[in-house]
Amino acid sequence: FNTVGFRNDLISWFEKEQRELPWRKDQDPYKVWVSEIMLQQTRVETVIPYFNRFIEWFPTLEDFAEADEEKILKAWEGLGYYSRVRNLHSAVKEVCETYNGMVPDTPEAISKLKGVGPYTAGAVLSIAYGKPEPAVDGNVMRVLSRILLIEEDIAKPRTRKIFEEAVRELIDHGNASFFNQALMELGALICTPGVPACLLCPVREHCVAFGEGVQAQLPVKTKK
Ligand code: ADE
Repeated sequence: FNTVGFRNDLISWFEKEQRELPWRKDQDPYKVWVSEIMLQQTRVETVIPYFNRFIEWFPTLEDFAEADEEKILKAWEGLGYYSRVRNLHSAVKEVCETYNGMVPDTPEAISKLKGVGPYTAGAVLSIAYGKPEPAVDGNVMRVLSRILLIEEDIAKPRTRKIFEEAVRELIDHGNASFFNQALMELGALICTPGVPACLLCPVREHCVAFGEGVQAQLPVKTKK
């Protein structure tokens, strides 16, 4: 597998074709964190106006930490899964109290915060801090199951670790932020569920599933 060729083709495509999204305007760890929490159970188009209003109401981590319960719930109204914003609020208060308002930049510390699972930890560490950490969600598993022809069942909780190891081998240490975002973007725009748009894919020459014509059969996912 041509890892360097794959990275370069993927990142060049992302630089050219990425959507302009409000949370991509800067690398503020607070904003990256808020966006990743919102995006966990909600689509990008739905999240955009909520994210913009949230940042207007709470421009900094301190503003959000100091906000009252009523206002934070109001900011989330319509997004659902309110435990997300409750956990985020308690984690942000913890960051103010314990880390002087600086979002932790190590996997160990950030993962201890409420509501920060392996995906969110990796997303914030890579996108905001450039750390070469995997950020593996269902979309990234779909993309990599095809590129590397990984036939593990993505419905099994243990499987995420297999994909995290794959990302560790592939990730561009000099540009972890774009690498992870490019995998997410490829999953959103090209390497979609069902029948992906391989003829538009910037990395199809690297894709093992495309080479074998089995991309539509991946990922393997047993229904629960
Ligand atoms: N889905 C999850 N994280 C995302 C991001 N940073 N950009 C676009 N879609 C996403």
